[in-house]
Amino acid sequence: MGRYLITGSSGVVGSRCAVELLHRGHYLILFLRPRKSQSIEDRWQSIAQFYKIDKRFDSQVQLVQWEMSKKDLGLDSQTAQKVFSNIDGVIHAAASVHLNQTIEQARENSLESTKTLFQLLRRWSSPERVQKIEYVSTVGVSGRSSLPLKEEPVRSLPEFHNTYEQAKFETELFVTQSRREGWTVTIHRPSMVVGDSLTGAILSFQVFYYILDYIAGIRSNGWVPDLKEKTLDIIPVDYVALSIVESLLNPKSAIEILHLCSGPDQAQSLKQLQTRYRQFLQTHRISISSLKVLSPRLLRSLYQVGALIPFLPQQKKFRAALPLLDYLQTEQSFENKKSLQHLEQFHINLPDPNQYLDPILSIWMEQQNGRV
Ligand SMILES: NC(=O)c1ccc[n+]([C@@H]2O[C@H](COP(=O)([O-])OP(=O)(O)OC[C@H]3O[C@@H](n4cnc5c(N)ncnc54)[C@H](OP(=O)(O)O)[C@@H]3O)[C@@H](O)[C@H]2O)c1
Repeated sequence: MGRYLITGSSGVVGSRCAVELLHRGHYLILFLRPRKSQSIEDRWQSIAQFYKIDKRFDSQVQLVQWEMSKKDLGLDSQTAQKVFSNIDGVIHAAASVHLNQTIEQARENSLESTKTLFQLLRRWSSPERVQKIEYVSTVGVSGRSSLPLKEEPVRSLPEFHNTYEQAKFETELFVTQSRREGWTVTIHRPSMVVGDSLTGAILSFQVFYYILDYIAGIRSNGWVPDLKEKTLDIIPVDYVALSIVESLLNPKSAIEILHLCSGPDQAQSLKQLQTRYRQFLQTHRISISSLKVLSPRLLRSLYQVGALIPFLPQQKKFRAALPLLDYLQTEQSFENKKSLQHLEQFHINLPDPNQYLDPILSIWMEQQNGRV
């Protein structure tokens, strides 16, 4: 059995990868940080509870406290040596996914911490010992480009929606260069991660769910942008985690870049998603305002003004919605043909949105309304 390090193991993707590896009998070193009222042990217990992981798996897990913005990731030299000299592979899934960081903060939380991770790998291990590194990036490295993102390195510097995308792009460049030292690395580019394709369950709700409320007019008294023919690429978390885990466990079939997304054929029409969610809410007798459609540009300008007015009760809401509106304004697509073919050999097939959308909407509605 292998011994694997997972960073970001309290996150949506990292935790799901951990569960998959535990069920396959592997040993894990999980990097976690405490929260104000929760030790790393408490945090792992709540994650284990969420996934209904049996207590017997505890013996396969070693928890290590870290902080990725600190020197040596916050590890003392003895702990770093113990961890890094004794692992067969790494899933590097930690990142700050906040969209409003300064570029310095975004780099610290992505590029700099990844550099430190590689320094520690170099110091205490070697490419011969660590068979595989899975770096979790994002399709967002294509920035605002309207050209389909190819399953290859991004060669020209795009314009970005935010500093998160820029820092992820820069980290990809660094990770790509590290291959020259002999490390076998796969870069995974998920699109917007949503709940489990069968149950809809997800450890925490991220940007997709807020976009959903937004286009359904729930957070804006019915005011929504004209969605035209726009699409959104979403991908269930189980597909993302299974793909990363297979990539880790099959170093010989290493591929440089995997697009973990639905691709141009299965991306969701935002208008259909809007209708589907509104019908879903109405079926469950949840009252919603009627829709008032505005041009995306005009709506964004109104939000920009609202976000600048201090003491306005909705100022925070306007600020939070701006990055979402920005995403809705750009039309993007991500190729996935090569990735689909690669994953087929492990019997990992793209889930059907018609099957997973209802459980996903249902879980979100339950969370928002405390009923169903
Ligand atoms: N979710 C998506 O839609 C999506 C889409 C594309 C790409 N991705 C990429 O997928 C990866 C995993 O994302 P996710 O969805 O699992 O995000 P997530 O649920 O927000 O998890 C992020 C993880 O990173 C950890 N982290 C953040 N800042 C840290 C710091 N300063 N020190 C130590 N740990 C820190 C978090 O720890 P705490 O729990 O302690 O905060 C958490 O474990 C990321 O690299 C992200 O860029 C995600």
